[in-house]
Amino acid sequence: MAFVLIGFMGAGKSTVAARLAEQRGASPLDSDALLAERFGHSVAREFELHGEESFRADEEKLVCELLDDASTRDVLALGGGSVLSGRVREALAGHLTVLLDSDPVLAWERIHTSQDGAERPLARDREAFLALHSERSALYEELADAVLVWASSASGEYPVLVGRGLLTTGQLEQVWPLDRSSSRPFCVTDETVAALYAERLGDMRALVSIPPGERHKTLASAERVWHELVAAGMTRADHVVALGGGVVGDLAGFCAATYQRGVPVVHLPTTLVAQVDSAYGGKTGVDLPEAKNYVGAYHQPAGVIVDPATLETLPAQELAAGWVEVLKTALIAGGELWEIVARGDEVDERTILACVRTKLAVVAADERDGGRRQVLNLGHTVGHAIETVTGYSRYRHGEAVGLGLLTALRLSGTEPLREQVRELLLARDLPVTLDAGANADAIVDATARDKKRLGAGGVPFVLVKAPGEVNHGCEVAAEDVRAAVEELVG
Ligand SMILES: NC(=O)c1ccc[n+]([C@@H]2O[C@H](COP(=O)([O-])OP(=O)(O)OC[C@H]3O[C@@H](n4cnc5c(N)ncnc54)[C@H](O)[C@@H]3O)[C@@H](O)[C@H]2O)c1
Repeated sequence: MAFVLIGFMGAGKSTVAARLAEQRGASPLDSDALLAERFGHSVAREFELHGEESFRADEEKLVCELLDDASTRDVLALGGGSVLSGRVREALAGHLTVLLDSDPVLAWERIHTSQDGAERPLARDREAFLALHSERSALYEELADAVLVWASSASGEYPVLVGRGLLTTGQLEQVWPLDRSSSRPFCVTDETVAALYAERLGDMRALVSIPPGERHKTLASAERVWHELVAAGMTRADHVVALGGGVVGDLAGFCAATYQRGVPVVHLPTTLVAQVDSAYGGKTGVDLPEAKNYVGAYHQPAGVIVDPATLETLPAQELAAGWVEVLKTALIAGGELWEIVARGDEVDERTILACVRTKLAVVAADERDGGRRQVLNLGHTVGHAIETVTGYSRYRHGEAVGLGLLTALRLSGTEPLREQVRELLLARDLPVTLDAGANADAIVDATARDKKRLGAGGVPFVLVKAPGEVNHGCEVAAEDVRAAVEELVG
């Protein structure tokens, strides 16, 4: 069973296949390049000489040969139109078929800025190119066992794979982003997730399980993880596997960032928060009693493997709380994602992918939170303060962020949108007020501490004009923050 990349022209299949093969210690196979070698000239020239039909026949023959001979370690990149052949589609059955995610407008631009346009006979007219993309999308999606989004930021690139069954039906070996014969995996998880999924991981050199919950995202847990990794013999050549929700991801990522000054980490997120948000972007860390996420490091993953089927075992309240990160992402993205969320649709793979794309695009533009990335903190300034003041135990992270969103929308002065968000939270049984007796002063103080992270001037709020129109760096008067928090106490 090989790893076979399909998808539209210009998506970057050849480049991604080469990177993946290198990570896995294998050589990539690229059907277009191999065909050009056989022809003795480019694919475009072949189109001119013998036409598309003749090209497709040769392509079908070569791709079927490749698929017949392929073994588990192989990474194959197939030409965009090759899956139009029924024989190719049949031959794909024994392999893991992965669709490389692409934005057609970016694909068009990539082809035409890389001087690649002349080499692509079906990319000469923009409208025809975009029409062909939408025509083929359904076929690609139907064939794909998983979708691959290629994440890139200033400090590195990594694959994100989203596919139902990747963890639960044992397809991990095909999608693992590192060569496990030269870099051994050491798993960090929590006790709940370990009982559900650890066995599915196959051979791990260690299984370090912390008790579940935010109260354990601490330096003490990190110290325990470091000691257990040493005891299990982990070296700098090995890697950490973070199996679990955002707590495990942040903690294991932090341990990976610091263990022997840094080892790779592969994330296997199992909660909605982690699948739509925390597993990407490289923010890792632990909480202090004084403030949330106060100790940490940026450490981009070596890869993220998302199996939405793991959400089936997630308790309903965790799923609801996780949905708040979807809501936050939709407020940032606007457009189709906001429409899905505003309708109150259940979260499916499409929604998860839309959140992944939004987060990765923001991080690609600003990895270190110097500017645009701050929009991802929407609802989090007050949300974090609520978590800290209530000892990381009264509210789930998503529940606190939901309350923080209501505060941010009050400060934004977008009353109808605030009311709409409040209704959406209520529909999922999420809190829209703080418990009677909640200490508003302490929350306001903790908010100021969160704001102090950047030194003088503080971290201003993220405010929302409308879905898709979110601004960071907005100065808000202290008395307005106090009034908005007090309003939550009722
Ligand atoms: N690094 C980032 O960019 C980022 C972004 C957002 C949130 N976060 C962090 O994420 C954390 C919250 O994450 P969370 O909501 O995933 O919490 P969590 O990791 O505590 O998981 C919630 C609960 O669900 C259980 N669980 C996990 N997967 C399960 C499954 N498939 N089936 C059954 N039970 C399962 C866990 O054992 C835990 O009890 C917070 O610490 C927050 O600060 C980080």
